This record gives sequence, structure tokens and C-alpha cells, in this order.
Amino acid sequence: MKKTTPTHNTEQAHAGTRDALFQVERINGDFVFDDRVAQVFDDMLDRSVPHYQEVIQSIARILGCLLQEGSQIVDLGCSTGTTLLQLSRLLEEKKFTYLGIDNSAAMLDKARLKAELFSRQESLNFSDGDITKVDQPGTSAFLLNYTLQFIRPLHRETFLRRVYENLSPGGVLILSEKIISHHPGLNRRYIEIYHQFKKERGYSELEIAKKREALENVLIPCSLEENRNLLQTAGFTEVEPFFQWFNFVSFLAVKPAN
Ligand SMILES: C[S@@+](CC[C@H](N)C(=O)[O-])C[C@H]1O[C@@H](n2cnc3c(N)ncnc32)[C@H](O)[C@@H]1O
Repeated sequence: MKKTTPTHNTEQAHAGTRDALFQVERINGDFVFDDRVAQVFDDMLDRSVPHYQEVIQSIARILGCLLQEGSQIVDLGCSTGTTLLQLSRLLEEKKFTYLGIDNSAAMLDKARLKAELFSRQESLNFSDGDITKVDQPGTSAFLLNYTLQFIRPLHRETFLRRVYENLSPGGVLILSEKIISHHPGLNRRYIEIYHQFKKERGYSELEIAKKREALENVLIPCSLEENRNLLQTAGFTEVEPFFQWFNFVSFLAVKPAN
């Protein structure tokens, strides 16, 4: 009989259901990372974040190149642990240790379940906590994927400085964000292209509009330049985007070695 190894798709089949949250008549209040969202989150990300898997693969390339064997990687706002699970597979020979921090108990339950299902409990740890109070000195790499946008803009500078302080010299921060453009015409076009992307993945116009409304006061994006400035103000000297798809960008930021 043919042997099967776990793939991303089987992982998703075990991990959650199809996102139909915004098909319901009304959504009361702002978007929150609760039980209902956690149940469908993997499907939501897969259909809402352009090139999500490619970004994780690029992160694996970066960390594989830049970090020493046995380094500690901390994922801030790890949700259901997909990124760490994938990195632990892609970088198996590097013997990195992985810690995911999130303040949603429902997300962490899913993350722990997935780690158990795929026999990764040894290398993956998950902790309930507020990432803005992170206290992990000596970390070699922090990941902050699609999460800074949920931190109040006023707190972002202090938070990124704290992340910088917790990094070891030569350490790296990966920052992925949804962004805006300050050119109104271009901004509108990019949003249209993004909505088209979501329609092609099975979301209706009504679902797209309702989610947008629910996220309105919760997800507050900055421009590429504003994010770059924030990283530089925090102390990072080398800051470069390594991926961009219209209104989504991922940065590599490096702390000087001494
Ligand atoms: C969009 S999701 C992140 C997706 C995830 N990084 C990935 O790439 O799969 C944002 C996550 O950040 C968490 N979060 C938001 N604010 C937080 C905070 N102050 N402390 C801890 N977690 C937070 C939410 O619970 C949610 O799971």
C-alpha cells in the first residue's frame, strides 16, 4: 500500500472548517479572535492572505541562512501555529526551538492540537500572553506576521523597540503586514485587486463587505514607508522588503551584530 505523509492539506482537514463566518445575516460588533474565528482560521488565512505559504517558505530560507543551529524563534501572534509547524518541518536539520505567543486561548488550543497531531510537541511550545509585554531576551528571530496591524498605532513604536531589545545581536525580525498606499487612486485599485483575489477563492461580495466592516476599527494598516520607518526607529539598521503582493508586504529587519 502507498505510504502517505502529512501535507498542508491534510493538516487543514484536521485543523478546521471552511470559513463561512460572514455568510450569516449580521455580525455584531468588531472582529475578535474568538472560538468561532479559531475554528475556521486556517481556511480564512489560506483564502484571504495572498501567497501565505510562499511567504512562510521564504521565511524558512531567510532563517535557514541567517541563524545558527539551535537558535530560538518566537512567533508573536502565532494564532493556530501554522507558521511554526511549517518552519519546524522545513528546517528540521537546524534543531531550532520554537515558541508561539498569542492571547487567544481558542487559537492556542488549535495550535497545540496541530503540534500533537503532527508529533511536533518536542520542538513547538505555545504560551498565552500579551505580545506587547514580550519578555524573551536572547531570541534569535521574532516573527510578526499580519499582527502588528492589530496593535493600536500609538503603541507600535514602543512595542517594536521592546522586540528589538529582546533580540540577540545580529538577530532578525520578520514583519508581514497588510498595507495602504497614500496615493488614493492606487490604494483603491490595490483594494479592488485584493477583493478580486478573495472572490476567486469563493468569498461573495457581501462576505467581503461584511468582513471589511467588522475589521474597520480593528485592523489599522500603515504604508510600506511608515512600517519601514517604525522598524528603523526601533533600532533596526538593515530593513528590506523580501516580498510584496499589491497591498501586502513582508520585511526582513536585522539588529546590528554588536
Ligand atoms: C492575523 S492573526 C496572525 C496570523 C499568524 N501570525 C499567521 O501568520 O498565521 C493575529 C493574531 O494575533 C493575536 N493577537 C493580537 N493582539 C495580540 C496581543 N496583544 N497579544 C497576543 N496576541 C495578540 C490574535 O489573537 C491573532 O491570533
